[in-house]
Parts: sequence; C-alpha cells; structure tokens
Amino acid sequence: MTIHDLTRWEPRHTEKKLGAPRSSVSALAPSAVHAVALDLACGQGRHTRALLAAGYAVIALDVSRNALEHLKSFGTGADARLLCVQADVDNWPLRQESFDAVVIIDFLDRRLYATLKAALRPGGQLLVDTFLDAGHPNAEGPSNADNILTPGELARAFHDFEILEDDEQDGPTARAIFRARKRAQPR
Ligand SMILES: C[S@@+](CC[C@H](N)C(=O)[O-])C[C@H]1O[C@@H](n2cnc3c(N)ncnc32)[C@H](O)[C@@H]1O
Repeated sequence: MTIHDLTRWEPRHTEKKLGAPRSSVSALAPSAVHAVALDLACGQGRHTRALLAAGYAVIALDVSRNALEHLKSFGTGADARLLCVQADVDNWPLRQESFDAVVIIDFLDRRLYATLKAALRPGGQLLVDTFLDAGHPNAEGPSNADNILTPGELARAFHDFEILEDDEQDGPTARAIFRARKRAQPR
C-alpha cells in the first residue's frame, strides 16, 4: 500500500493549503498536562495545529513528505511537542496504550481498528470524522468503498468503548462524526 498511497498523495500535497480544522476536533480537550494525541493521516496538519493549540503533544503521521513539510512550514515545526512521522499507517507500529487521543479526519483504514483500540490509553478518546456511505454518491471525498464508512460501522467496531458522539449526517456530502472513550476496565 505504501508506494501506491505515496504516489497518489504526494502530488496532491504539492500546493500549500492552510485549511480550517473540522469543528469536531474542538471536543477533544486534553485530560492531563502531558496528554499525547495522534493525528493519523494528518495531511498538512490543520488538526495537528488545533491539537497543539489545545495543549496536546502531537504525533502527526502521514505518508506524504510534501504534506509534512507544509505542516512544519506553518510554524508548528519548531514546537517541541510535535513529532512528524512520514510513514504508511499500515506499516508503522503504534505502541500499546500510548495515546490520550487519536484523531482521524477525512481518512479511513478499517484494518486499523484493533490497533487503534490497543494504542489508546484507558480513558483516551478516538475521534473519527469522515465520509459516510448514505446510499448515494458523495459529492466530495473518495469513491472507493474501502475509504467510506458504512452506517453504524464505528458503533459496532467500537462497541466496547463508551460512545460520546455518533452523528451520521446525510446530504450531498454525507459524513459521520464518531467520538468514543476507551473504558478503564474492559467490559
Ligand atoms: C483527505 S487527506 C486528510 C488529511 C487530514 N486528516 C485533514 O483532515 O486535513 C488524507 C490523507 O491521508 C494520507 N494517507 C493516505 N494513505 C495513507 C497511508 N497509507 N498512510 C499514511 N497516510 C496516508 C494522505 O497523504 C492524505 O494526507
């Protein structure tokens, strides 16, 4: 998957874009002074910047070198709380219980669900805000079903988490916003 994703995404990140973050990320206040967040498939880091501003130390991971160079050039690169990782999500080992928050926006790799569960600390939150299959073509986002959520998918996959938000929005650009907390004691 690395070569394919790299060659597909690198040209899309040639141009520097200062996008506004999705508002869903504002629900993730750090729970501790040294809270660590993972911005998975971070792109040019519009949510990385929001997470740093909220007080997190952030690991920003993306397959695209161009995207990470832009992220750093926005001024965040000098922040000692930021670690940029150019890697394929499928090949980068995520340590168990190392994140207080995992943020996945406009990206989906459903093979990672078990890894993400393990990578969150007890009490840590997962936020996924991405495209949803609402039974009609999505005006934006991917066309490949591998990259689009099905209705109820995250609630089923993370049934062992405490679900804090599960909002499936139909419309020309259907999306799901899902936020859930890893339980301190597994059920
Ligand atoms: C639509 S962009 C979303 C970026 C960011 N999350 C945001 O909301 O602005 C999808 C991102 O996924 C990254 N990506 C795609 N496949 C990847 C993979 N296998 N490993 C890591 N990153 C990947 C791309 O480089 C791209 O930056």
